[in-house]
Amino acid sequence: MRSHHAYLWGRQPSEDPSSALQIRAGQGNGGLSVLCDTQLIETLAHFARERIPERSVHAKAAGAWGEFEVTHDNSDLTDAKFLTGIGTKTKVLQRISTVAGEKGSSDTVRDVRGWAMRFFTEDGNQDFVFNDLPVFFIRDPIKFPSMNRSHKRHPQTNVPDPSMFWDFHVNNPEGIHALMHLFGQRGIPASLRHINAFSVHTYTLSKEDGSYRYVKWHWKPDAGIETLDSATALRLAGEEPDYHVKDLFNAIQKGDYPTWTLYVQVIEPKDVKDAPIDIFDNTFTWPHEKYPLRPLGRLTLNKNPSNYFQDIEQAAFSPSAMVPGVGPSADMVLQARMFSYPDAARYRLGANYQQLPPNKPLSAVYSPYQRDGVGTINGNYGGDPDYVRSGFRKINFRHLHCYPEGHETWNGKMQSYATEVTDKDFVQPKELWEIIKKEALFARVDKGLGELIAGAVEKKRGQMA
Ligand code: HEM
Repeated sequence: MRSHHAYLWGRQPSEDPSSALQIRAGQGNGGLSVLCDTQLIETLAHFARERIPERSVHAKAAGAWGEFEVTHDNSDLTDAKFLTGIGTKTKVLQRISTVAGEKGSSDTVRDVRGWAMRFFTEDGNQDFVFNDLPVFFIRDPIKFPSMNRSHKRHPQTNVPDPSMFWDFHVNNPEGIHALMHLFGQRGIPASLRHINAFSVHTYTLSKEDGSYRYVKWHWKPDAGIETLDSATALRLAGEEPDYHVKDLFNAIQKGDYPTWTLYVQVIEPKDVKDAPIDIFDNTFTWPHEKYPLRPLGRLTLNKNPSNYFQDIEQAAFSPSAMVPGVGPSADMVLQARMFSYPDAARYRLGANYQQLPPNKPLSAVYSPYQRDGVGTINGNYGGDPDYVRSGFRKINFRHLHCYPEGHETWNGKMQSYATEVTDKDFVQPKELWEIIKKEALFARVDKGLGELIAGAVEKKRGQMA
């Protein structure tokens, strides 16, 4: 075994990191600590600064490294390099989370699972920040903080509050489709190795020639979906609060690597006007009969983080991290998110979070207009000009085609706007109910469903009285 000499703050060798300088009289325990005891002071001071802010949502997670491999010819859709050429492999970082609970909360709760991943491509970082439900609860991004507060702790009691949860959703019923999924059979995964993931939003895939298509991304676990019943989940939430984190770690540790297949649904721009749904509204799915899943590649998670805090807690994913060949769409929730994640990262990790190991692109980055700030560790571009269009150092730029020509020409007037809820919002939930056929907002989806829930609530009330 290698022996290590303990060093105090990388400077003076330490004789014993468990000892402190003291002014001692007698043999007893009493003594006086001294201000020149740098070892004691630094040890205590660092501990008080070890915590960084939790993510405001998605605080509890498991993480791993992996690899993505292109399995199909996708060249008609995009020339994004990580999707081009059968057999092309790209390093991946993955973080799978619950949403509402804090960093120490239990895994087996009925909640959305977040699916954040980064492809370290030769053109920079491509992030997918997805969920395990195909639709979202809101479509007006300004409602996001309100929705999440209603899922978290009550401002007075400091306890999660079902009345607050339902008060929000009953009065913002565009979320009914997402609620149907959440309270359906897939609301509590048996393990993170057996979940789907969906982009939820529409994105674009494009090519150098200016062609582009709208897509929705889907991940499907090759080992299939597995879920927990509520009673087992409740027991595990108490007995094994880190059940899902352990499961993923242990599976990878013993070489049982989970894999997923990546698919897209595709819509040609010319067909958007005939689509049965608003493709920029993330409360709708795209009918699979009309827009079938098309496989692109496979993900394998094959390496545990060597240090959770460094690799996973300090990871900052963002839907705005996109490489040439992938682009956003006019979904307003997606656009709000493209602001919100880097903003959250600057608060949580500091202005130079992109220099941290899990966030640093593998590809060379030359961005001398972004420099200084706390924790600068990349050389800071030495003496290079820190302003654009300098004649002293000529820089070559590359034409990007993330916003292909002809892609959404917008022309309109600025106005205050919030979406309305119409009967159309209940069509897909009704179809979903037809499929899952189980489980007082729900009555608008189906009378029988409403009655079932009302009956169950009455029964519970009776038991409590
Ligand atoms: C207006 C809508 C939304 C806003 C403003 C928003 C904002 C945020 C913020 C601030 C975080 C914490 C990020 C951090 O501290 O690093 C977060 C995490 C996350 N969000 Fe959203 N979000 C929205 C909708 C969505 C949707 C629709 C999805 C899925 C399709 C999603 C998936 C995730 C995931 C997976 C994480 C965890 C990221 C990680 O593992 O680091 N969010 N979101």
